[in-house]
Amino acid sequence: MDFNDVINQRRAINHFDPNEPVSDELIKQVVELAAKAPSSFNLQPWSLMILRDLEEKKRLRKLAWDQPKVTEAPVVFIFLADRDGWKKGHPFVEKNFQEMVRAGSMVPEKYEWFTKVIAGLYGTDDEKSQAFACKNTGFYAMAVMFAAKSLSLETHPMDGFDHDAVRREFHIPDNYWIPLLMAVGYMDRTKTLHPPNWRKTFDEIVVKFT
Ligand SMILES: Cc1cc2nc3c(=O)[nH]c(=O)nc-3n(C[C@H](O)[C@H](O)[C@H](O)COP(=O)(O)O)c2cc1C
Repeated sequence: MDFNDVINQRRAINHFDPNEPVSDELIKQVVELAAKAPSSFNLQPWSLMILRDLEEKKRLRKLAWDQPKVTEAPVVFIFLADRDGWKKGHPFVEKNFQEMVRAGSMVPEKYEWFTKVIAGLYGTDDEKSQAFACKNTGFYAMAVMFAAKSLSLETHPMDGFDHDAVRREFHIPDNYWIPLLMAVGYMDRTKTLHPPNWRKTFDEIVVKFT
């Protein structure tokens, strides 16, 4: 599918066909294709919980404004944004550094410098850590929607849920924020899609401050 078609045809789909399965292989393809998304210093501070079990999805739906798509979609993602994903000693900070050394874009002697730079950018207060985690995970989530569409799957992002209740219900550790949930599957073909939603124009998007 041409990227222009992917971007024009992706929609937040309200009605999923609960009887059209999505294979684990296809989900893996989506998750890994989307992982090509860029991130700050390539730190990739995102994780995913993948829900398929109906009982689990029912528990989530109760905490997500009772949105039917949570149980109708065969797969639901819980996106997790790691607010500790910049910290020295974090497994992926370490892996990232080693990978850069291996690739020749970094030298081992710069380890202290590197960890200090990222701590200075993302670790000086809670707002910075939150922004770091959520902006990067937001890019990843967008990439997931495009990757899914390119593989003929439909998605629906959701932030209509009780954040703290979901955290408690699914035993999600405190270092993670949950920027969004996402239903994934195929559209229920007996339903019709409403016309595309309006979008801001160039002039409405571009601003200037004097
Ligand atoms: C972060 C995020 C959270 C959203 N949360 C919800 C939600 O909880 N429930 C819902 O029905 N739609 C939700 N939406 C869908 C938006 O309403 C939808 O994307 C927007 O109206 C544009 O429509 P389109 O995606 O079909 O182009 C969410 C979208 C985003 C990006």
